Amino acid sequence: MIRKYTFGTPLPTGAVVQPVPAESGDVPFFSLSREEKKIIFTISMAPDEVLFGLGESVRGMNKRGFFYRSWNSDVFNHTESTESLYGSHNLLVFFSPSRLFGVYLDDPGTVTWDLGYTRSDTAVITSENGDLDLYIIEEESLTALARAFRQLTGRSYLPPRWAFGYIQSRWGYASEAEIRTVTSEHRKRHIPLDGVCMDIDYMVDFRNFTWKPDAFPDLKAFSEALKKDHLRLIPIIDAGIPVAPGFPPYESGREADVFCKKEDGSDFVAAVWPGRCVFPDFLREDARTWFGDQYRPLLEAGIEGFWNDMNEPALFYSDEGVADAFSRVEELRNGETDYESMWWLKDAFNGIANNMDDYRRFYHRIGNTSVRHDRVHNLYGAGMTRATAEGFRRYDPSKRFLLFSRSSFIGAHRNGGIWQGDNFSWWSHLKMALQMLPNLNLCGFLYTGCDLGGFGCNVTEDLLERFLQLGVFTPLMRNHSALHTREQEIYRFSSWEMMRDTVTVRYALLPFLYSEFMKAALTDGMYFRPLAFDYPDDPRAVRTEDQVMLGEGCMIAPVLEQNATGRYVYLPEDMLMVRFRSAADYDVIPMDQGDHRIDIALNEFPLFVKKNHPLLLCGGGESSETLDDRHFTVLCRMDREVAYDLYRDDGTAPDPDLARGLTRMTLSPGLAQASSIPGVAISDILL
Ligand code: GLC
Repeated sequence: MIRKYTFGTPLPTGAVVQPVPAESGDVPFFSLSREEKKIIFTISMAPDEVLFGLGESVRGMNKRGFFYRSWNSDVFNHTESTESLYGSHNLLVFFSPSRLFGVYLDDPGTVTWDLGYTRSDTAVITSENGDLDLYIIEEESLTALARAFRQLTGRSYLPPRWAFGYIQSRWGYASEAEIRTVTSEHRKRHIPLDGVCMDIDYMVDFRNFTWKPDAFPDLKAFSEALKKDHLRLIPIIDAGIPVAPGFPPYESGREADVFCKKEDGSDFVAAVWPGRCVFPDFLREDARTWFGDQYRPLLEAGIEGFWNDMNEPALFYSDEGVADAFSRVEELRNGETDYESMWWLKDAFNGIANNMDDYRRFYHRIGNTSVRHDRVHNLYGAGMTRATAEGFRRYDPSKRFLLFSRSSFIGAHRNGGIWQGDNFSWWSHLKMALQMLPNLNLCGFLYTGCDLGGFGCNVTEDLLERFLQLGVFTPLMRNHSALHTREQEIYRFSSWEMMRDTVTVRYALLPFLYSEFMKAALTDGMYFRPLAFDYPDDPRAVRTEDQVMLGEGCMIAPVLEQNATGRYVYLPEDMLMVRFRSAADYDVIPMDQGDHRIDIALNEFPLFVKKNHPLLLCGGGESSETLDDRHFTVLCRMDREVAYDLYRDDGTAPDPDLARGLTRMTLSPGLAQASSIPGVAISDILL
């Protein structure tokens, strides 16, 4: 059951697709207060209440105990104290033995979430603007609640199947020759690969929709040649359009008048990678259409996937901000300096990027009204994603394109995936990536993953290997790193064979993982879930923070610590452990419910599978397009007849039919009885 309550005059966000009539009574569960225009929702929490949701945010799967702020931020250096990341996902689920409900704030401005931070027994949710639709969702189970929320906000984005392959990326690849080195190093060593990302260096002066003519003399021929080798190019596009007279997107955008405005009606200008930029008003349909059409030259060059970046939007500085910082400096030039003024001096320039004053300097047009950016800030990235997805549909409605964005808002999950932003090569960020996955899924973002190896800082071999082991299971499996950091392609390391073997597991599992993903997406379900969703009555499972359910029957428990040669794993029920070293080399060990200390050497990683749920491994291959998805080895701990519906399709149809894609396989109990591992069927099947 979903109930809606409207406060003030909410602006349209496009997040909700299922109309719900607004109620007039009191909001259940919460007490309500107001402070100027703010609306504050307060609720007390029992000690055993856990909180799920808030999608992309730091810390644990259970969000209780910290303070979060919905304000999409470009936060290169984020740590566990960071209140806001790149996306705002305002769904929070309260779960205890005595109550279960979700609250969703459809509010594009700042929302704060004091979740037992000020008082451990109280949650306080504050809408700064006070204009919002609030939804209360009540269902019988966590799974049903997640499904009801997805039905409210719409089906998750479906990427093409090739987007489940391994993708290599690095800020710095600047030419066809460099990309060819990357692809040939992978192919030569049989490291499976499906795509290479092109970061800003492919562009002329970092200008969107251009490519360097000398470095990419014939982009179409290059992309077509790579496609013959089952490889795709995935270029980056940033939000800002450089202020450059004569540059066609700048000129045509000016002519169509699609850029965000300052109060005086002139275009708002702030610097990003290309220098001074203007910003498409993605909240307007005409601006979205204009922007979506700009991808055309790249699409015509055969590109089938993009990543959209800097769309919080990130603002390095504005002329006004720089002038302001200089005037603060001038004030100090002849004055006394003490430590306080020196801090002030330092901060004058430190705070110049992504400055609140800049976010208050520009306006969007919604209908006939002009709305100051900070009121709708969190919609900007979602608008860019929508503009891009709509552009793809206009260009070729017959296929799915890969699209993932940095910034997002609920609603954007219908149009694209997201990556988890600029993480670091830190063990703590490996854990954070794992813990974010189920909450992102709850909020609708199924196609996601982190920068494997870490974006900032220098990775170590063991950390990259452990990141890859997590990446085997994330829909987006991309190794990405920043300019000037240690080169982090697998083939750079002495232990590249170990890492290659890890990637081979992804390819052996790819048809199965794709099937699990598509079934989740097409039934408004979750691919990753907290254990609480499957074991709500098991307090140990409910509190487990470093293991995650995957698909219908699996659980992952990655090693998250440096130098660890194993870890403790809690099994909420009897399971089968498959401890992988490569696609062809793994242990199959039935394990009973309870706590286990498991040896997991650096080159190993376990996958746990529930009883009577099969795991399917195909023969593997070096690209998603060359896999054999008819012959499988099936592993299944079982004590009855088992059926599994494998979902397969052409990997590109935009509106796939779930029922038509399913192939049923059945396993008879005799298979497990006759097996060399009692109770575990290990058999080859042909579908
Ligand atoms: C941003 C992106 C990062 C990219 C870089 C350069 O920091 O988050 O992924 O490599 O910009 O384009």
